[in-house]
Amino acid sequence: MKKDILILAIESSCDETCASIVKNGREVLSSVISSQIAIHRRFGGVVPEIASRNHTLAITQVVEEAIEKSGVKLEEIDAIAVTYGAGLVGALLAGLSFAKALAYSLSKPLIPVNHIRGHIAANYIEDKELKPPFMCLVASGGHTAILKIDSYTSHEFLGGTFDDAAGEAFDKVAKILGLPYPGGPEVSRLAKDGEANIQLPKMLKGDKGYNFSYSGLKTAVINYVHTQTQKGMEVNKADVCKSFQNAAVDVLVEKTISAALNSRLDTIAIAGGVGANDYLREKMAEFALKNNLKLVLPEKIMCTDNACMIGAEGYIQFVHNNNVADLTLNACPSLKL
Ligand code: KG4
Ligand code: ZN
Repeated sequence: MKKDILILAIESSCDETCASIVKNGREVLSSVISSQIAIHRRFGGVVPEIASRNHTLAITQVVEEAIEKSGVKLEEIDAIAVTYGAGLVGALLAGLSFAKALAYSLSKPLIPVNHIRGHIAANYIEDKELKPPFMCLVASGGHTAILKIDSYTSHEFLGGTFDDAAGEAFDKVAKILGLPYPGGPEVSRLAKDGEANIQLPKMLKGDKGYNFSYSGLKTAVINYVHTQTQKGMEVNKADVCKSFQNAAVDVLVEKTISAALNSRLDTIAIAGGVGANDYLREKMAEFALKNNLKLVLPEKIMCTDNACMIGAEGYIQFVHNNNVADLTLNACPSLKL
């Protein structure tokens, strides 16, 4: 009988310290997420130095808790997977140094994981039968792209953003409206009480390719808020959120669906924090159904940062790609896909 592969995964690229034990790249035995949201809120965003310090404070306990909850003994683990990029350099180093020390002391292989590939791999946990090829929308705080996932280890980049990422645009609009950090979920929450009654540009909607641009949309929101304020008129934040959210999300949905249809793929997957947006989830589900496409939609907690996805991608790197790092592995803040 084939032996199960147990991976201890560590993620610390931004403001969440996470650890997880994942079996065979598909089954989550435990997941621990220690969020720093409350710490960074008063600064209106993530302060990198504070993030690194808090990762260092939290990491031992988070890893211990993940091991304890899983019921797996540390010696039974086959490999340690860790995010080494992209992300904040100090934050990455906190998790990476811990993972290296643990791998060295236990004589276990160290598996380097690309954070964005991790987001994509969250789909293998959501759907245990999912196999490439499929079309994947990546929409996070730093990335927006449509990728054709050809195999577990290769993909084709069909298009991406020319400027801001989708999540970044949500966060910037939240800031303009004076909403607390983290902005994306706040915009999404307020949008539920709003009307899409403000004219905003739909970026590159007519563009036949799969590219995006969010800077024009963001500027249009800034201009609208300034004009209203200068005229002494009220800014209905809920309406701004709803109008912005529709414009930002509609184009993501339309282009992902058309990429799948044009590539004759029957499955769509979603990766990254913006995937936790309710309007995107509903609209993508509606359009997938209309077009006879299967939609894989990771749970919201699996769309935002977690270590389970790092365990899923760690398994792929370990088993399908033979990718084992040595102790010289360094953090790569701007690691590409
Ligand atoms: O994937 P993620 O957790 O971290 C990165 O790898 O960047 O994505 C974070 C981004 C942030 O920009 C955040 O505002 C956005 O995802 N986000 C959302 C929602 N939840 C998180 N955007 C819109 N609606 C949400 N519900
Ligand atoms: Zn992320």
